[in-house]
Amino acid sequence: MSLKPILATLLVALLAAVVSLPARAQDDATTERELERYRQMLKDDPWSNPGLLDADKGEALWKEKRGPKSASLEGCDLGKGPGVVDGAFAELPRYFKDTDRVMDAETRIVWCMETLQGFPRAEILKRPVSKANQQGTELEALATFVASKSRGAKFNAPVAHAKEREALALGEAAFYRRQGPMDFSCATCHGDAGRRIRLQPLPYFAKPEEAKKVVGEWPAYRVSQGTVMTMQHRLADCFWQMRLPLVDYASDLTVALTSYLVSQAKGGEITAPSIKR
Ligand code: HEC
Repeated sequence: MSLKPILATLLVALLAAVVSLPARAQDDATTERELERYRQMLKDDPWSNPGLLDADKGEALWKEKRGPKSASLEGCDLGKGPGVVDGAFAELPRYFKDTDRVMDAETRIVWCMETLQGFPRAEILKRPVSKANQQGTELEALATFVASKSRGAKFNAPVAHAKEREALALGEAAFYRRQGPMDFSCATCHGDAGRRIRLQPLPYFAKPEEAKKVVGEWPAYRVSQGTVMTMQHRLADCFWQMRLPLVDYASDLTVALTSYLVSQAKGGEITAPSIKR
């Protein structure tokens, strides 16, 4: 090769670099593309998702006679009548007359374990969710099973009862309320399109298109954690990121935030258990 074509090539490359996007924006675009490729690879073979094992474990636990009352959870009313699991998750959180409370899937499962099986509440809540590299918990498995029975259904939680409207309003207010030592609200991190912290995009929940894409993915198997993570756990983790006092599992506040997220995702498909970084 003579010198001329090489110089010409170099010149073209140089011009391209000058004319192209600023280097920083280009780096960001490349990183985002590669991250998307990584996420796609995780999702490409759905059968390789270990979260499905939690759903299976949850189903076995659901059907097993356990606890002081030696009963299964098959009589548990998740809102569509005792024993109906199919499609129930898509209509949660909802108001339950027997407790006079709005409950999400996890809160309701705890209640059914308490009332049907006779497990003391304190015992159930001793370790509701797992930490990284710990064995998954029974609640995680049960929640994954219940959610998986709504795969393909669309979110459609009722907002008819006064307490359902109250929960939704509380959830929305809590989403935008700035608090804690960092003066963060949920919207500080989740209130703009296209943000990301490390490997994970920060969905903009005020935008229904974005909420619809991700809310139905929970519970999700988290590769970095080695277990399934439920929505209650996800929210508690974000409270921790905000440096707020730890929020109670199955509290009215976490249920209310779930009501808000699910209402933003109304019509979005349930794909749980999904797989995350
Ligand atoms: C300091 C920033 C920050 C704040 C404030 C914050 N989050 Fe998050 N949130 C994150 C990060 C980071 C992730 C992704 C976590 C990961 O996978 O490592 C995330 C993930 C989530 C997800 C799952 C998103 C998905 O892609 O599936 C939900 C739901 C969520 N947050 C809800 C909330 C709610 C509700 C609040 C307010 C109570 C909140 N977050 C406050 C940083 C924040």
